[in-house]
Amino acid sequence: MGEGAGFGKVILFNEHFVVYGIPAIASALGNSTVAVVERTSDLTPSGNDGSMAGEGWVLEDERPANPGYKAEKKDHQKESIERVLKAAGFDATKNYIKITLSGDLKAVGGVGASAAVCVSMARALNEEFNLGFDDDKINAIAYEGEKAYAGTPSGIDNTASTYGGLLWFAKNLEGGPNTMEKISLKRPVEIVMGNTGLTANTKAAVAGVRERKEEDPERYNKIFEQSKELVNKARNELDSLNLEVVGELMNKNHALLQEIEVSHERLDRLVAIARDNGALGAKMTGGGLGGYMVALTPGPDLQKAVASAMEKEGFEALRTRIGV
Ligand code: MEV
Repeated sequence: MGEGAGFGKVILFNEHFVVYGIPAIASALGNSTVAVVERTSDLTPSGNDGSMAGEGWVLEDERPANPGYKAEKKDHQKESIERVLKAAGFDATKNYIKITLSGDLKAVGGVGASAAVCVSMARALNEEFNLGFDDDKINAIAYEGEKAYAGTPSGIDNTASTYGGLLWFAKNLEGGPNTMEKISLKRPVEIVMGNTGLTANTKAAVAGVRERKEEDPERYNKIFEQSKELVNKARNELDSLNLEVVGELMNKNHALLQEIEVSHERLDRLVAIARDNGALGAKMTGGGLGGYMVALTPGPDLQKAVASAMEKEGFEALRTRIGV
């Protein structure tokens, strides 16, 4: 039996823009997905939510999830597992395997749930079959798996999920190695992540931005330029832990994401609740059109106030920290 874990992540700046080579900032979460890979001779799925089988493998998905998430993502999940196996050079038809997913990362859009599955599975496979993969190889395999969910992923989710920490990331559009630099915070900072309860399709969200950008390149190029300026400022302010300004920049980033039409009224509602209750900044996070948003709430009291306000309106709120 081999076991592996992959962190969840939160994107603090520049989801979507990052697909086009613009830098972004993301943090791994304390929550993670755990995969167990076992050799088996029985490829019959249990029939539970999220269970399925492919050529030489069977999956039992025991992760907590938003209602409907597993059914909605079933095709992506299947393609992703096959991509991970292929990228790992592993022929499951010669070695039947059972993959079991669990952990405390909820399967929801915006927290890097799919990347965490790819990373944890690659790690578990590596352990069970002594494949000799290092973190860079695990990350490269997970990136292949992510393509099933995001179409043309930037690689930020699998990178945060593999290496952990707070990261500055830029995709190399020429195909060479991406830029990844660790940012160290002087102290961890509390955040709240609000769950819309909606499952969105990241691939469709990414493709939608591409279409609209092609239709109106002039307007989109201006927005993209602003996102570049903004993330550079954000990095400096994070380095000096100037959280008031970081929060303002998160608000501006949310406005840019609204302009490229990847927010959603429920995300906007959660953002408004967070700001009204004292969050220094709030924005959607990840693919958008549903999933999670993130609010900057330094200190346990502010974190509690913002999370409770979300819960009072019937939303689920995840209390966690960045820079741990
Ligand atoms: C999804 O978590 C982040 C996106 O920017 C897609 C990607 O970077 O691959 C929307």
